[in-house]
Amino acid sequence: MAVNGEPKDRGHWSGPLPFIMASAGAAIGLGNIWKFPYITGMNGGGAFVLFYLLCIALVGLPLLISEMLMGRKAERDTVGSFLELGHQRAGGKAWAGFGWLAVITCGVLLSFYAVIAGWAMDYVVKSVTGAFWAVPAAEVPALFDALLANPWANVIYAGLFMLLTAGIVVGGVKGGLEKANNILIPTLFILLTGLMIYGLTQKGAGQALAFMFAPDFSKLTGAGMLEALGHAFFSLGLGMGVMIVYGSYLGKGTSLVKAAISIAFLDTLIALMAGVMIFSMVFTYGLEPGAGPGLIFQTLPVMFAGVPGGGILATLFFVLLTFAALTSSISLLECVVAYVVDEDHLSRGKAVAISGAAIFGLGIFSALSFNVLAGVKLLGERNIFDTLDFLVSNLALPLGGLGVAIFTGWVMLVPDVKDEFQDNALERFSRVFWRFCIRFVAPFGIIAVLLFSLGVIKF
Ligand code: PHE
Repeated sequence: MAVNGEPKDRGHWSGPLPFIMASAGAAIGLGNIWKFPYITGMNGGGAFVLFYLLCIALVGLPLLISEMLMGRKAERDTVGSFLELGHQRAGGKAWAGFGWLAVITCGVLLSFYAVIAGWAMDYVVKSVTGAFWAVPAAEVPALFDALLANPWANVIYAGLFMLLTAGIVVGGVKGGLEKANNILIPTLFILLTGLMIYGLTQKGAGQALAFMFAPDFSKLTGAGMLEALGHAFFSLGLGMGVMIVYGSYLGKGTSLVKAAISIAFLDTLIALMAGVMIFSMVFTYGLEPGAGPGLIFQTLPVMFAGVPGGGILATLFFVLLTFAALTSSISLLECVVAYVVDEDHLSRGKAVAISGAAIFGLGIFSALSFNVLAGVKLLGERNIFDTLDFLVSNLALPLGGLGVAIFTGWVMLVPDVKDEFQDNALERFSRVFWRFCIRFVAPFGIIAVLLFSLGVIKF
């Protein structure tokens, strides 16, 4: 029973598969195709990748189970779920603070996520219209600087992307989220497989595979390890309650353990495939693997501009990036919309219009932070975009994850937790493993990430 208002008909996935697709869609995003390759490049490759996989298994996977478990048990949005499951426990309603944090974090992340996705859309247009070929190769990276300097392009593309996102979310769980993911995820997979096979036929493929999979532990630093853990979080879409909301639309018969393993597997597979594809190109064409955030917007286009068929490759690649961003952005908007629908009892249409407009409004500041508002420096000389990114990725996300870990590991009633695991040997074993990771490993790792982000731990 809901403690705060009547539960309503909130929609349901039509089965386990659409749920897994949609959750994999939330997980697979810019984090996989843009960020994972560039941070792998900056952290020296193999050893970082191996440590990242460990973080996914020991912290990411348990936390993914925790979020889905909370949502499915409570059948509510993030705030409602903490309220419902925590109100008779120590701390009582205060736990709902983490639900609030999740809603706000989703909104803020989406506001600047849309700006990056907007760049991907602009690059689709550039690829189709041949903009990379119209200038000498050496000037291709400067096209990105020109895009950043253009306030209109940033605002308009972010706005278009928000419209696309809102257009899907307004359709509801079955008619919107499920349908979109059922189309976008397989398409994304096909595109990426094609591009990866192309990459593997290039002469730099061997070097790329060695770079990514032959670990050289002398290259793994403490800072790199914490970055891997932070990214495992971000990539799986944890710490912002998205999986609480998606879990809340899931029927009781589905095994959360199996679903979580499938989602983590797909998310990791896509990141590794993107890495293999991108580094094959990077090594074939003598580009710089440690180029940083500009790797796919500045470094890769130089290659696209120089190879036969580069126009097609570039178009496919940036469409892939846009689709990946879209499957994540719908989950972020859904998290905010679920709150407005469940707690404020507004219709879905109104909830989408109001939250979409507010998030876009906030996003304008990020879109302008590279041009008109470039002079505005906030936290530690960061511009608005970087400040929001820092607050979300380095603080809110680990804090949200810590809240979920402590809540499900130490606060929630044990029978409530047990209910969400099935009654067979494998699930019993999984529950023991989950419980150990969520009570001890995850909080310890997350606190380390937080202290590092705050500058308390230095390397
Ligand atoms: N996981 C997404 C990515 O990799 C980002 C995201 C974070 C989406 C949190 C939803 C919630 O890009």
